Amino acid sequence: MIILGIETSCDDTAAAVVVDGNKILSSVVSSQTDIHHPYGGVVPELASRKHIESIVPVVSEAISKSGISLKQLDGIAVTQGPGLIGSLLVGFSFAKGYAYALDLPWIGVNHLYGHINSVFLEPDSPPFPFAALLVSGGHTAIYYVKSYRDIELMGQTRDDAAGEAFDKVAKMSGLGYPGGGVIDKLAKEGDPEKIVFPRTYLNKSEFDFSFSGVKTSVNRYIQTHQEEYKDMIPDIVAGFQEAVVDVLSYKIVNAALEKRCDHIAIVGGVAANSRLREKVTHDAGSKSITVHIPSLHLCGDNAAMIAAVGYHYLKDGYQSDINDDVYSRAR
Ligand code: KG4
Ligand code: ZN
Repeated sequence: MIILGIETSCDDTAAAVVVDGNKILSSVVSSQTDIHHPYGGVVPELASRKHIESIVPVVSEAISKSGISLKQLDGIAVTQGPGLIGSLLVGFSFAKGYAYALDLPWIGVNHLYGHINSVFLEPDSPPFPFAALLVSGGHTAIYYVKSYRDIELMGQTRDDAAGEAFDKVAKMSGLGYPGGGVIDKLAKEGDPEKIVFPRTYLNKSEFDFSFSGVKTSVNRYIQTHQEEYKDMIPDIVAGFQEAVVDVLSYKIVNAALEKRCDHIAIVGGVAANSRLREKVTHDAGSKSITVHIPSLHLCGDNAAMIAAVGYHYLKDGYQSDINDDVYSRAR
């Protein structure tokens, strides 16, 4: 089955053509980072306007790069939620119209299931069941993944998402937006043990997270070291990153042990973080657990992962209805 995936939940306009939920023929991502950069975060109104401009060229590019003709498509999958309503509406409405014009089945899918399914686009995908850590700008959660569609939430953040904490710490350190990648790079020049920030485990045997404490701690450190903090930015961000990574690694390894899983997947934009990749691989390895992390281009938002989820629903006969609508919060 050849599926066209469409993703516009936040600030990336993306389209992809994927065969059987695991082979990418094309994947196009048009990023809006330059537009939102001056504001230090995503401006929803600007995001939806840009999606409207980009959606047709991005879908056309994905089709032409895939080398297939429109007639060869078997269905369309599109992100239905969670995300920014105005942004979601652009991709969702486009997909509805396109599917009806081409007389194709179509399905609205959960963006978070998309991230989890991104591991199946790689050759060494994990066998079921496995434990998944989803870490992105909008979400941080642990799931017990029993099949492509049977996914149980084990815990999630009670306040900031991990990526959001990276972005906020980058902003207060004067490193711009989005800050995850910059912190990752700069932390390599710092000493992660020089400034020790708090690790918030909440209940150590449960899987909820909280990152607002460490973020506030970094802010307080900067406020109380106004004279010298600029020279210490690499140590500050290295200390912050280590605190976040310690908690993420501890909880996902524990989740895998509790569910007796031999495999872990790490997905979402923050899965690109080099220290997180290294630490979880080490910690899980010491318990004989194998870690699967997608390549960098599949960690951030993309439409190939949406096509991958859609494939499993469409193959099993599920379809969305013309009256279905987008949703902003996870459900
Ligand atoms: O999955 P994603 O592209 O979008 C959402 O669905 O949120 O994730 C974006 C997030 C941003 O917060 C960004 O700062 C973070 O992923 N990120 C990173 C790295 N690369 C991107 N965080 C830490 N280290 C990185 N290398
Ligand atoms: Zn995402």
